[in-house]
Amino acid sequence: MNLSLLLKNFPHEKTLETLPRAYINHSVQFKKICSPEMRTKVLEEVGLNIFYFPSEMVTGCDLLSDSGVTTMTSEQWAALHKGDEAYGSNAGYFLLRDQIRETFGEDFWHIETEESPNAFLFHQGRAAEDAFFSHIGKLGDNLIIPSNGHFDTTEANITANKIEPQNLFCEEFKDESSSSYFKGNMHIGRLQSLLETSANRIPLVFLTITNNTGGGQPVSLQNIREVAELLHSYDIPLFLDACRFAENAWFIQQHESEYQEKRIPAIVKEIFSHGDGFTMSFKKDGLVNMGGGLFIKHGGLFHKKYPKMLDDLMNYQIMKEGHPTYGGLSGRDIMTLVYGLKQVTEEEYLTARIRQVQNFGKTLADAGVPVLQPFGGHAVYIDMNRFFAGTKMTPGDFGGISFTALLLAGYGHRACELGNFAFGSYDSVSQKETFPEVNFVRLAVPRLRYEEQDLTAAAQAIQKLFENRDKIPPVDVIYGKELSLRHFKARFRFRA
Ligand code: F0G
Repeated sequence: MNLSLLLKNFPHEKTLETLPRAYINHSVQFKKICSPEMRTKVLEEVGLNIFYFPSEMVTGCDLLSDSGVTTMTSEQWAALHKGDEAYGSNAGYFLLRDQIRETFGEDFWHIETEESPNAFLFHQGRAAEDAFFSHIGKLGDNLIIPSNGHFDTTEANITANKIEPQNLFCEEFKDESSSSYFKGNMHIGRLQSLLETSANRIPLVFLTITNNTGGGQPVSLQNIREVAELLHSYDIPLFLDACRFAENAWFIQQHESEYQEKRIPAIVKEIFSHGDGFTMSFKKDGLVNMGGGLFIKHGGLFHKKYPKMLDDLMNYQIMKEGHPTYGGLSGRDIMTLVYGLKQVTEEEYLTARIRQVQNFGKTLADAGVPVLQPFGGHAVYIDMNRFFAGTKMTPGDFGGISFTALLLAGYGHRACELGNFAFGSYDSVSQKETFPEVNFVRLAVPRLRYEEQDLTAAAQAIQKLFENRDKIPPVDVIYGKELSLRHFKARFRFRA
């Protein structure tokens, strides 16, 4: 009997509950053996600040960030060896230029030797933000930069240049009962009102895709289009914070009906057709360990309004990072990025990546842990207000910090508080804390690094802490409560 006819008697591979991963392990690294007692001692020594805890002692999952922790593919490791470390116009520079043009659109890397470049490479995202906002800050006083949700370094770079950042989260974001797939959207009504009163104070608007501060939620193409049209009617450019652009495109394909038949690369092109520029940390959807960039669309609204800024940016880049043909990157970094960008828009990769995050979230939700739903692309967010509801924990007790310390010491998994402590602030004069709109602990999943078993182990540990949440004590901040970006620096102690 013919094999294909024979196979028709059996269920199709895609109908099975568990599908094999879209990749294999190319090389592995064994972890150090480390007991809860050893982890406890060291965590106490670093004042319960998980940023200072040695990563070698993380025996479970390191979910501190999805940034720069991607396991690279064998193509990338091979390309790394072809890195050209020349001081000017290294071989990878030309490959990267072609790849950026192919991925995002030709106008984001204009090839014209007589003009200043419009593509600027930096060593990571925040260096690109620094260069950009320090120039935007010179455009006037009392400026505002609205966003659907600024990331913390973006916000810090904006305020450092005396500009006011504003977050216009959409309504569905705060509505637990909403099943919207695009809770990362910008609130169009609030944007409209802001434009009516303050358009002259807004040099540009940022859309973060996906919205990391807003729970890693995606932004719909409809929202991107509507924001762009509204802004352009006021002659205001739109910029994208594009760190997780490919993951955002995957959500658009899955959940926006008119894009279901479209391939990811075409969706990416359409997203960027609405932007007048973008900043990017390649440590996320560049699938590399280091890299960032600022790209200003040639002939776009921003370029037309501020043509001279390109030359100023180039001078700044040369002064701070390096010549535009390498920016802040080594030739080998550039080579790995070329291949990372080729891989990241592959559907099989994105499906495997995002399904892994979603399965992890579902395991937690099934165990009763209050997590933000639907799940975003790169992380699962635990809502700490709901986690501690019904216990004695108050906002100023920083239960999220207590939780991350216990998870790390007791079970070896590292998570990050992004809530009342990280985004709150303390005013030394009034001696009052101000708390943010959201109070999360984030479990960020590194790309291509862990297997389902690892994440299930983390979910089980979190479940145990949740079941025993009334035994989790508050922490006192023993250092750094009044500092800016305080979560990176502060030290804590469990209250007796
Ligand atoms: N924008 C967003 C949305 C980010 O998530 C990050 C970094 C940056 C900008 C800055 O990029 O790290 O290359 O300087 N996010 C990491 C995180 C650190 O853990 O979410 P960078």
